Order: sequence, then C-alpha cells, then structure tokens
Amino acid sequence: LESASADVARLTRWADDFPEPGVRFADLTPVFADAKAFRDIVDALVAIGGDADLVAGIDARGFLLGAGVALALDAGVLAVRKAGKLPPPVLSQSYDLEYGSATLEVPADGVDLRGRRVLVIDDVLATGGTLRATAELLASAGATVVGVAVVLEIEALAGRDRLAEYPLTSLLRV
Ligand code: PRP
Repeated sequence: LESASADVARLTRWADDFPEPGVRFADLTPVFADAKAFRDIVDALVAIGGDADLVAGIDARGFLLGAGVALALDAGVLAVRKAGKLPPPVLSQSYDLEYGSATLEVPADGVDLRGRRVLVIDDVLATGGTLRATAELLASAGATVVGVAVVLEIEALAGRDRLAEYPLTSLLRV
C-alpha cells in the first residue's frame, strides 16, 4: 500500500479550474499508464477486496481498475454506467456532483445482484456523491457493499463523511 501511495503522489496530474472554474481536477491517467504504479494499485485494492464476489467499477476510470481487481479476486466485474448508455430496463440513481449532477445506472435484469458481495471501486473520492449513489444503487438491487475503495481521496471535500456506512479505503489522501 505504501508503494501504491507513493506512485499516486508522484504521477497524478493536477489541473486547476477544470472542468470548471474553482475545481482542481486530479487526473490519474499517468498513474494508470505506468506499469509499476498500475500493478501496485491493483495489488493494494485486491488486498482489501476480502470475500467480494463482484467488483463494481464506476464510469469511467473505475472500469480500468475494476477489471484488474476482479480478475485477481476471481470475482465478476460490473460497469456502473452514466445515464443513457444501457438499454432499458435499468436501475438508476441520481446525485449531485462537485460540479453539476449525474445519474448512474446498472441493468435491472440479466444480472441478479441480490446477495452479491460487492467491492465498489473508483479513481477519486471528492464529495462522495458518486460513490454514495453507487452504493445506494447496488444496495437497492439487493447487493451487500462489502467495501468501497479509491486511489485518491481529496480530504477537504469530506466525501468520507457521506460514506460512513461502508468500509472505505483510499490509497492516498491529499
Ligand atoms: C470523477 C471521478 C469520480 C467522481 C468523484 O468522475 O472519477 O467518479 O468524479 O466525485 P465525487 O466524489 O464528488 O462524486 P467524473 O465526474 O470526472 O466522470 P468521468 O469519470 O466520466 O470523467
């Protein structure tokens, strides 16, 4: 975990006033493009994965991590999509973002989430709206959220406070 934390601190690209004024955007693209960093991160997330049988990766960068972690855990992988990407019927959950609002969706049929033990993964925890909406969406479908994990947590936005019901791991807090 220490190795992963150092990788993230070294390689994250920070952008001021993106996607709008006043927001400081953490772009983890260079982190995932680095072979050692990507390996360290996936290993660290696998270590906290426990007995999850499904890894839910959040649109879009959570997909990259989710697939790698799911393979190593011998779990399935679920893409939690932004609205409009999946054919109906879908289960959806809307939420406020640091900038604007959004809706997340998973299929309402074809994948039975009842009783699944889900590890939720994303790249960044900011206000916590995205992860909270995802956890609520999965819980409403009958799944148990056994953990929530992110690579980077932006502490000043207090997203952690909105996820108090769930075991939360972040590889680096800034
Ligand atoms: C970013 C990030 C998280 C979310 C965190 O996604 O990847 O999913 O914001 O913010 P929150 O904790 O305030 O909810 P973004 O909205 O940039 O979408 P993208 O992954 O599709 O680019």
